[in-house]
Amino acid sequence: MKGVVLGGGLGTRLYPLTKITNKHLLPLYNLPMIYYPIFTLVEAGINEVILVTGGNSAGDFLRLLGNGTQFGLKRLSYIYQEEEKGIAHAVSLTSEFIGNDKFVVILGDNILDGSISHAVEQFKHEKGAKVILKEVPNPSDYGVPVIEGKKIKKVIEKPKKPPTNYAVIGVYMYDTGVFKIIRNLKPSARGELEISDVNDWYARNGELTYEIFNGWWGDAGVSVDALLEVNNYVAKKKKENPHHWGLRDVRNRFGR
Ligand code: G1P
Repeated sequence: MKGVVLGGGLGTRLYPLTKITNKHLLPLYNLPMIYYPIFTLVEAGINEVILVTGGNSAGDFLRLLGNGTQFGLKRLSYIYQEEEKGIAHAVSLTSEFIGNDKFVVILGDNILDGSISHAVEQFKHEKGAKVILKEVPNPSDYGVPVIEGKKIKKVIEKPKKPPTNYAVIGVYMYDTGVFKIIRNLKPSARGELEISDVNDWYARNGELTYEIFNGWWGDAGVSVDALLEVNNYVAKKKKENPHHWGLRDVRNRFGR
């Protein structure tokens, strides 16, 4: 399986912090935000990754991440999303890199303290798509699933009346069928190709499975308060154990 990290967008919810730089380059304690989703993929055994970036400071990613060798990646590729057309549009740009593989998408501001490797292993034997859920106090801020047994029947983006207390977090697994689905997608009211519409398509076709994440999850890009909360969590965890999130590896390689 290959990996896709999404690090584009203008990060307007964090203005003015993101006026001159990219949201995913902002610090989470002692490392840039983008490191953490890469660690999550690497930990799940993925060693070929493409970063989709856009907006400000796109070139800085190259200087920061290079060929990805410090993460143990076999291949790190880059692609530039020229317009803010949404998460599903960003995914569509990776089709050549993905080829005939299945793949995992992770949003560059989604910070996971815990492993997704079980879900990734399961998905190797499944067709369609798989998402990861987390119970949250504010489901209306996220994509929300309607669950029936082992399948999701429907996904609703930021519903006013959420059918469950689960959020579809920013980790998605797809087969190559996703590119055709995105090609047929219509932009939402905000003019973007929504990833929840992609997931909803799989759900309505009985091809969307899920796993509930039992670690800690934070979306650092939602607001300045969320960024602070994630920063505080990461700092606390790293002070308790500096090897969290593959830091040992980064330390060894950079001698920090
Ligand atoms: C995006 C997705 C949403 C998902 C969330 C997870 O929302 O649209 O479905 O639950 O990421 O972080 P955004 O954070 O872009 O508003």
